[in-house]
Amino acid sequence: MSLKQKINANQLPQHIAIIMDGNGRWANIKGKLRVFGHQNGVRPIRKVSEAAAELGIGYVTLYAFSTENWNRPEKEVKALMELLRKTIPQELPTLMKNNIRLNAIGDLKRLPEQNYKALMDAMKETETNTGLVLTLALSYSSRWEIVEAVKKITSEIQQGNYTAEAIDEKLFGAHLSTATMPDPDLLIRTSGEWRISNYMLWQIAYSELYFTDKFWPDFGKEDLYKAILAYQNRERRFGKTSDQLTTSSNKK
Ligand code: FPP
Repeated sequence: MSLKQKINANQLPQHIAIIMDGNGRWANIKGKLRVFGHQNGVRPIRKVSEAAAELGIGYVTLYAFSTENWNRPEKEVKALMELLRKTIPQELPTLMKNNIRLNAIGDLKRLPEQNYKALMDAMKETETNTGLVLTLALSYSSRWEIVEAVKKITSEIQQGNYTAEAIDEKLFGAHLSTATMPDPDLLIRTSGEWRISNYMLWQIAYSELYFTDKFWPDFGKEDLYKAILAYQNRERRFGKTSDQLTTSSNKK
């Protein structure tokens, strides 16, 4: 039985968030420049998106460029932005073929104009696709997002839309850039690092965490299947006891 066949179609994670890490080290081991690692980080994005779409997963959110990544050497930032600008239109046929809708979260106004345009064009082109929602977190950090949500809520209170007492988890979540998505069920990080690195801190409150030593350029469909199988073997208790859960409803 293949790994894919072992996956229980009735217990799929609805939303998978991925911290794609290890491009630079992958390239260095091969005696190449870091940018070579980033270039080779595109193929796994395609593989994972295709595999997720085939399985019927609703959302995949990729940490493609963090707020902190702006502080990398200028040459690397430039190379990453160029790669992004070229890759987005190149990947359009794959997105269309797999009925994938492209989405983006983060401080997108900080992106170079051409990147912003390439992104908006691809999002527009795929907006009626009804399958997987593939979100790129770009110029994104969770603390930035939370501060932005606080600013929006404060402004709405000042405008008299509601009072501070009305703030609850639902209202707060509705002011995050992930408002239209369910929280991730599964968070995957590659490259052997066990950190969250300012990614979806609010949203991953009850996500299952999966770490693999594989560097991102080596991550493929089989690795995604392994992560999903590991997820399906976890007991999600959401603060309850094991006895409180019925075997079939492993839910909140
Ligand atoms: C982390 O590896 C990866 C990034 C900061 C960039 C991710 C970009 C890609 C996968 C390629 C292009 C993306 C799109 C959406 C077209 P790292 O550089 O931190 O690796 P290291 O930890 O080994 O240094």
